[in-house]
Amino acid sequence: MIIILGAMDSEIDEFLSRLEDRQEIHWNGFTQHHGQLEGQEVLVSKSGVGKVMSSMVTQHLIERWQPQAVIFTGLAGSLRPHIEIGDTLLACDLVQHDLESVALNLPRGQVPFSDYRFMPAHPVLLELAAGFQPANGRLHQGRICTGDQFITYREMNSHAYLTEELEGDGVEMEGASVALVCSVNRVPFLVARTISDRADEDAATNFEACLPQASRNSLDLVCYLLREMAQVDLSEN
Ligand code: ADE
Repeated sequence: MIIILGAMDSEIDEFLSRLEDRQEIHWNGFTQHHGQLEGQEVLVSKSGVGKVMSSMVTQHLIERWQPQAVIFTGLAGSLRPHIEIGDTLLACDLVQHDLESVALNLPRGQVPFSDYRFMPAHPVLLELAAGFQPANGRLHQGRICTGDQFITYREMNSHAYLTEELEGDGVEMEGASVALVCSVNRVPFLVARTISDRADEDAATNFEACLPQASRNSLDLVCYLLREMAQVDLSEN
């Protein structure tokens, strides 16, 4: 069983039309969709927006289904000129950019009193996904910074830490929290995002406009990954 998550309904809708033997499960106001995709048993769910909602849903689903892997898809803002709107960004690792305990002498993103800061994706999932050829745009690997803010005006000094201190390539609102929950539970995960904006003053408009194309791209990527995953045993890595 593989869990496929997106933050919003519009980020998972495209999957639902392709699910075979689909059954709905209702949990605390969330509708989760169980079925078959590319011959694999999957559970597709909205995670909700932000770190708290996505952590809560991920922990619940891991306990309920004990999945082989969690794949998170959806949209992200680009932090780099060469990563363009419509491109795909695979997270090599993820960090919570708004977790800040400098007063405790800890670097930004460090979960205090733990070893968690940059959480790496499962190497085999990353390698498999790296073979995906998007219908539009280019494929990149990089660091995703996650926080409970929709970032605009990132070129202001107040956001310089995203690229300078954290060396981030993309920004979004759920990836690192899902990564942390998966890491603690020792469940392989991958976060794959379509770039919707440049985290600048046009971000909100670009985000809305990009949703339909991003959803199709996420479906193509996840279907590709599921076919590739059928050939490997993740527990060996
Ligand atoms: N997801 C897509 N674009 C984003 C942005 N600019 N900030 C946070 N999350 C996003």
